[in-house]
Formats: sequence, C-alpha cells, structure tokens
Amino acid sequence: MILKNEFLEVEISEYGASIVSIMVPDKDGKKVDVVLGYDSLDKYKRQTKYIGATVGRCCGRIKDGKIKIKDKIYKLSQNEGKNHLHGGNIGFDKKFWQARKIDDSVEMFYKSADGEENYPGNLNVKVTYSLDGESVVINYSAITDKETICNLTNHSYFNLNGYGDVLNQKVQIFSNNFIENDSDLLPTGEIKSVTNTVMDFRRPKTIGKDINSDFYQVKLANGFDNNWIIKNYNGEIHRAARAFSDETGIELEVYTDLPGVQFYSGNFLDGAENGKNDMPIKNHSGFCLECQYLPYAVDYKNFTKPILKPGKLYNKTIIYKFKTK
Ligand code: GLA
Repeated sequence: MILKNEFLEVEISEYGASIVSIMVPDKDGKKVDVVLGYDSLDKYKRQTKYIGATVGRCCGRIKDGKIKIKDKIYKLSQNEGKNHLHGGNIGFDKKFWQARKIDDSVEMFYKSADGEENYPGNLNVKVTYSLDGESVVINYSAITDKETICNLTNHSYFNLNGYGDVLNQKVQIFSNNFIENDSDLLPTGEIKSVTNTVMDFRRPKTIGKDINSDFYQVKLANGFDNNWIIKNYNGEIHRAARAFSDETGIELEVYTDLPGVQFYSGNFLDGAENGKNDMPIKNHSGFCLECQYLPYAVDYKNFTKPILKPGKLYNKTIIYKFKTK
C-alpha cells in the first residue's frame, strides 16, 4: 500500500505492519529510499532482523521471559537464548495485519489472542500510518481485556544515503542518560550519564566515530545498542533524536510521546540476503531509532511500566520527519 504526497512516498505492507520504503528527495531532487527493506514477501518471512516491522507485544529483551503482572508470574516465550526478545517466536512482525486505506492514511489491525507467546489478555491493536507534509506519522492504539504489557515500536533501519553503510551519517540524541546493558544486552536497570563517554550524542556525531571504541557498552554490543532516556520527558510529543547525511542532504527528526529511544547501529545485520535494489544488508547498513517505553521496565521500579489495564487505551505516537538541505 502506498502513501504519497508532494514530498514523500511510503510503502506499507500488511506483513508485520511494516514500512517497506520511504522515498525522500535528496539535495539534487533525486529520490532516495532511506529505509532498508526487501522486494519479496518470502524474504520478509525469512528475515530475523525485524526490518521495517511493527514490534510487539513488548519490544526489547525480558530476562528469562519472566514478567509479573498483578502478583502473577507469566513466562513469555524465550526466543533469544533464555530471554524474550521483541514479542517472542512469532511476534507482531511475523503476522498478517488487516489493512484499510483511508485518504492519506493506512490503518492496520491485529488481534493478539490471550496466551499468544504467553502474554495475558486479548489485545486489539491498531497501527495507523499517515503522511503530514514532510512527516510519516505512526500512531499505535490498543485495548485489552486483561491486564497485560504493551510496548510497541517501529523497527525501521534508516540509511539516509540509500546505499552502503551508515558510518558517516550523523546522529544526535536528546538525552543525558542511557540504560546500561549486561552481556546479553539486557538492561541492568542502571541509569548512566552520557557525560565523558562515547554514549554522548547530545551533539551530532558520526555513527562511525566511536563504533569501535573499547567502552564496555560498545564492546558488548559490537557497536551501539542501548536505550537512551529522552531529556525533559513529560508525556507530550517531543523531539527524541535526529540524524543526517551530508552526502544527500537528507535529515531525519524523530518525535515521540514515549520516554526512551533505542539507538541500534545494525550490529547483527549479517548479509544473509540482499534487500531492495540488490542492496547488501550487512553490518551497519542501517541504523534504528526505536522509540519505546524503557526496556525491561516491568522489573525495575524506577522505570514507567508499559502495563495496560482493561478499560484503558494505549495511545502512542512516533513521527519520522524529513527535511532536505
Ligand atoms: C533491537 C535490539 C538489537 C537487536 C535488533 C534486532 O534493536 O536492540 O539488539 O536484537 O533489535 O536484530
């Protein structure tokens, strides 16, 4: 399904409620596809890197798949070693969503049954993609009939050149603090200051500058793969991060009303299959800025928990805004 206006052209797929492509004009007016993706459904079915997908019911890692809701322990499916990752074995990224196009929007619906991947409650989810000038606006809404966890994100891998690696592209994250990971890339719950570390992206920095640093967090992940806590978060939509390429002049701004952003430099991309236009999808071919509730928050009292109760509406927004200079 295609959404198009005078500036952007976006392709959305029912499989995984995914973004397949985002075409943005570069400084010479040439259209550049700024996200990684595949040109066949079979490749989407085979891929394991969540490229472009809606991730849920809970994005990020959960230790031993164990969550506690209303004093009851649930053991979610363990699909990454002993841990739960990105919704489980067959997460929202591997489901066919029902879609309907309304004017400048695409609405996608999925009913996640009580017990799916061992999550409690029937969860009715709607993802709406729409264009607003130079922005791709993604709205997530969900309701449940039993208390559950719900933390949805979009897993687009951006490459603002449309080819090659992203090491010369600059990223800025509006955050003073990141969440420490352990060797399984599970958050330890420790909130660390970015000051005097390579995790400081308060000023724009090329992704490649410190990607081989011996800072312990970068070493554990073979690059960047942490959650940054967005500065001055107050539940309103605010700017979380920014990225740009001097080569194409394309700039991306990420806005959200969620409290954290996972900056991931594509360290697990392994070249397994080429993407659209035969582009290799390998280490650092793209980067992600995944807006979300802080990962693994269910277990730490200092993180807002992504708990959804019956009668409450989950309603969150992620905006990708593009400019060309
Ligand atoms: C997220 C995680 C990474 C990795 C990718 C998917 O961004 O933070 O560690 O699991 O998803 O490959």
